[in-house]
Amino acid sequence: MCGIIGYVGGKEALPRLLEGLKNLEYRGYDSSGVCVVPAVGGKLEIRKEQGKIRSLEAHIAENPLPAAHLGIAHTRWATHGAPCRKNSHPHANADHTIAVVHNGIIENYQTLKDELVRKGYKFLSETDTEVIVHLVQEYFEGDIVKAVRRAIADLQGAFAIGVVCSDDPATLVAARVGSPLIVGVGKGENFIASDVPAIIRHTRDVIYLKDGQIAVLRPEGVRVMSFDGKACRTKVDRVTFQMDAAQKQGYPHFMLKEVHEQPDVLAKMLKARLKGGTVVLEGLGLSDAALKGMTRIKIVACGTAYHAGLVGRYIIEELARVPVEVDVSSEFRYRTLLVDKKTLVIAVSQSGETADTLAAVREAKAGGARIVSICNVIGSSLARESDGVLYTHAGPEIGVASTKAYTAQLMMFYLLALKLAQTHKSLPPKSRAFLVKELVGIPALYRQILKGHAEISAMARDFSHFGCFLYLGRNINYPSALEGALKLKEISYIPAEGYAAGEMKHGPIALIDEYRAVVCIAPQSDFYEKMISNIQEILSRKGKVIVIATEGDQAIRAHGTHVITIPPTHKLLTPLLAVLPLQFLAYYIAVNRGCDVDQPRNLAKSVTVE
Ligand code: AGP
Repeated sequence: MCGIIGYVGGKEALPRLLEGLKNLEYRGYDSSGVCVVPAVGGKLEIRKEQGKIRSLEAHIAENPLPAAHLGIAHTRWATHGAPCRKNSHPHANADHTIAVVHNGIIENYQTLKDELVRKGYKFLSETDTEVIVHLVQEYFEGDIVKAVRRAIADLQGAFAIGVVCSDDPATLVAARVGSPLIVGVGKGENFIASDVPAIIRHTRDVIYLKDGQIAVLRPEGVRVMSFDGKACRTKVDRVTFQMDAAQKQGYPHFMLKEVHEQPDVLAKMLKARLKGGTVVLEGLGLSDAALKGMTRIKIVACGTAYHAGLVGRYIIEELARVPVEVDVSSEFRYRTLLVDKKTLVIAVSQSGETADTLAAVREAKAGGARIVSICNVIGSSLARESDGVLYTHAGPEIGVASTKAYTAQLMMFYLLALKLAQTHKSLPPKSRAFLVKELVGIPALYRQILKGHAEISAMARDFSHFGCFLYLGRNINYPSALEGALKLKEISYIPAEGYAAGEMKHGPIALIDEYRAVVCIAPQSDFYEKMISNIQEILSRKGKVIVIATEGDQAIRAHGTHVITIPPTHKLLTPLLAVLPLQFLAYYIAVNRGCDVDQPRNLAKSVTVE
């Protein structure tokens, strides 16, 4: 996905646009660009550059822009066309009187492009976005708002756009379908942005644009209308987001900061949602009776959120005895959906803007299912489209590799499973009390593990040169193996595969030799002995092993492996603890390899395109 920001007001546009872009860079960082409408009139001025925003700033320093009080800017995660200057946004028409920035995918762009080329329009880029600006040009007869309305009527797919026109240097037009866009309402100035961090220093008053809405911003105010031109009533929300939460605060990387924030995040969740041993899930959107009536649960999510869903399945089935299916959203949305009003679909998404998860939810809703989302971004599209939303309140997660959002999702599943066990009366009181007591102790155990991460840094040095990793786990820690592998591959670019340990002998064992590193998640559990057998199988084939084991486990050390220990806890809670050393291992290996930990290549924080 990409980041968009626009400004119109009495102050200089450029500094606000660049500042906003930097706070959106986590959304995509292949290239970036700025367009301003010179205050003295004349054609639009555009500067764009490949690479991070600092490259754009350097380019502008060499090629200064004129003073302007209106402008748009964009930081890109490439979909159509390589990440290079010519494919960067903003895209302009031939005579540089109209420019557009866009986040999303225009699915019918080729048909539109062919038609526009037939009409004589010249395309300079390989992007889908460029069709938008030529369409606006095609329909422009002096009124930029009308021209935008007519152009977007031709578009199919997802888009959040910002449009400026040199003929109207005090009007910024924005529209959205399927991609997030907010309006920042200031005093004598107004903004559009893909996300709150871009504008929070200037205003906390925000309008969350809805799909099918157009916003017309001028210094004196904002009008919102539907695509057919009808005025829309809008609600201005007050954002409580704390900007310092989106700063590194002395850590070398956002990811390391966010790993260290986890105990506080989990403690806050427990304090807010566990009252005297009873789970209180404000926002659930379902009464106890309705919850009890749910005969099936389906969890949909992508990436790390999907791994949280896999843990959720084990927990809910174990505690509430309700059958649970888990699917990646991109598969779920194209299956023959067997859902009805007794099906509860739990959509898990940190950003609440992941296109595949949004699409999966819309399909499930159409089938009559009840939707509850576990989400970290307040007011996100997913939150607004669900019957109930359980906010994790983990604070902004800037590192592209998800850490605190994941453990917060896990914690939410433990709380939800306890709630379901309450309504289904499926858990004996003594077992419940013991689990709750252990759950409440988790943040303190996190703090204990955090103290010992220096040893993982040393271990990471021994393993940074390996060309490929295998992660093995069983039962409730099979998802931990998947998550550990994803963390490593996405920030260190080392091929890493998570596997159910019992599957080793059905193929993956062929990979084992002295060049293979294998991470085995083997806490004290009913599957411990089986994990020891796996470790033996690997060692006997010269594989190099790292084991995540329970503190005090002397037996494991007899196997001559690298051991990282986690404190003992309830057997159902080990995924909450096991993932912490896996996050550190991935982090330190990536740092040792000189990778960009917070903004890994080819990735973006939220994938708002299919
Ligand atoms: C996690 O480290 C990745 N960045 C990615 O897999 C992410 O979990 C996935 O894209 C889902 O994002 P969401 O939680 O915002 O829906």
